Amino acid sequence: MVSTPAANYDIKDLGLAEIGQKRIAWAGREMPVLAQIRERFAREQPLRGKRLSACLHVTAETGNLALTLQAGGADVVLCASNPLSTQDDVAAALVTAGIPVYAIKGEDERTYYRHIGAALDHQPHLTMDDGCDLVATIHKERRALIPTVIGGTEETTTGVIRLRAMAAEGALEFPVLAVNEADTKHLFDNRYGTGQSTLDGIIRATNVLLAGKTVVVCGYGWCGRGVASRARGLGAHVVVTEVDSIRALEAVMDGYQVMPLLQAAAAGDIFITVTGDVNVIDEAHLKVMKDGAILCNSGHFNDEINIPALERLAVGRSRIRDFVEEFRIADGRSLYLLGDGRLINLAAAEGHPASVMDMSFANQALGAEYMVNQAGTLAKQVYVIPREIDREIARLKLLSMGVQIDTLTAEQAAYLNSWKTGT
Ligand SMILES: NC(=O)c1ccc[n+]([C@@H]2O[C@H](COP(=O)([O-])OP(=O)(O)OC[C@H]3O[C@@H](n4cnc5c(N)ncnc54)[C@H](O)[C@@H]3O)[C@@H](O)[C@H]2O)c1
Repeated sequence: MVSTPAANYDIKDLGLAEIGQKRIAWAGREMPVLAQIRERFAREQPLRGKRLSACLHVTAETGNLALTLQAGGADVVLCASNPLSTQDDVAAALVTAGIPVYAIKGEDERTYYRHIGAALDHQPHLTMDDGCDLVATIHKERRALIPTVIGGTEETTTGVIRLRAMAAEGALEFPVLAVNEADTKHLFDNRYGTGQSTLDGIIRATNVLLAGKTVVVCGYGWCGRGVASRARGLGAHVVVTEVDSIRALEAVMDGYQVMPLLQAAAAGDIFITVTGDVNVIDEAHLKVMKDGAILCNSGHFNDEINIPALERLAVGRSRIRDFVEEFRIADGRSLYLLGDGRLINLAAAEGHPASVMDMSFANQALGAEYMVNQAGTLAKQVYVIPREIDREIARLKLLSMGVQIDTLTAEQAAYLNSWKTGT
């Protein structure tokens, strides 16, 4: 780590740095692909002289990414991509490593946006987003920064959806790489990472036994598949709700019960939204839920559960324990909302395990390098990470796990490329 601390920052407590350093190192043990990239970056300096503003969940895994980008020569500034996901010890450790961080766990919305502003004051050549906040703020409020930006990278499904909407309207002013679209990202991070860590968040917040409970998973995308399979693994009876017929069919054939949410609402003990959509759990659902039902979200924004409706229905509310709030409804029922409806895996637990973030952040680091190498050649569009990068990350991950695979023989390669052979 660089030993000169950053001059400007806004974090909870610099005194937490030593704990943060240990946690970053612990996560780093499970991030061998990123470690290899870091070694190469340190030698080759592909990001030398580039100012990079990152808006990511400030976790131990992100700490490893930030240090990798710094090793590659980037001048990195980091702010949080969610008010509740910051690990204050990691923020402190990065500041001591010379990276300005603007992030405090539990910061209010004004502070959150002030921190995004501070990250943009860095006048980035590269943006790195998890949810499109930097890119959206540049386009809405800080347009003078646009000429400086070479391009950006985007971590999550919701961010990519927002970017595609911007590009379709012709509003996007620089190219952005959709890291989420890489197979080595969403197949593992969204599915196994969100699957495990969402249940980890629910369990840490509540200590409920999942065996025998009815868990309703709203959305059967990459995250929903992971959450449903892990909940089933813990003995829950899992019900899936969907709006997409293909995804719903997949859930049925994977062995889950599928039904409209209004029907599931009356049966569920625990509700988990992972859709990227708004007001998925709405007033009508809240009205029929059982006394004691637990509600949480693992999608990007805290608008998947209609919290204003929950507040309107409630005659009283109280914080029962960390990340658990009781809403007492006029008819005598109590509903429990976890983590203010924010991503429960990051609010109440530690986010995704390092082993999957290894691949997600390898994509981010190589994506930033790709953007620099392609500077000036890309259109103002959303790009998918090149297939060679994706495959190389998978190859390195397998290597680090000691797993070997077969290679095509010359005969097989010719066969698979031919239309003339066959029956
Ligand atoms: N918690 C985390 O750490 C984490 C990690 C990765 C992604 N995310 C976020 O999770 C969300 C889901 O991501 P994904 O990759 O699974 O997306 P996805 O597009 O693969 O899946 C979303 C699914 O939700 C369904 N859906 C939409 N509206 C619905 C509704 N009203 N009711 C039921 N189903 C509905 C869609 O049909 C789709 O199948 C996004 O907001 C993403 O940014 C969170």
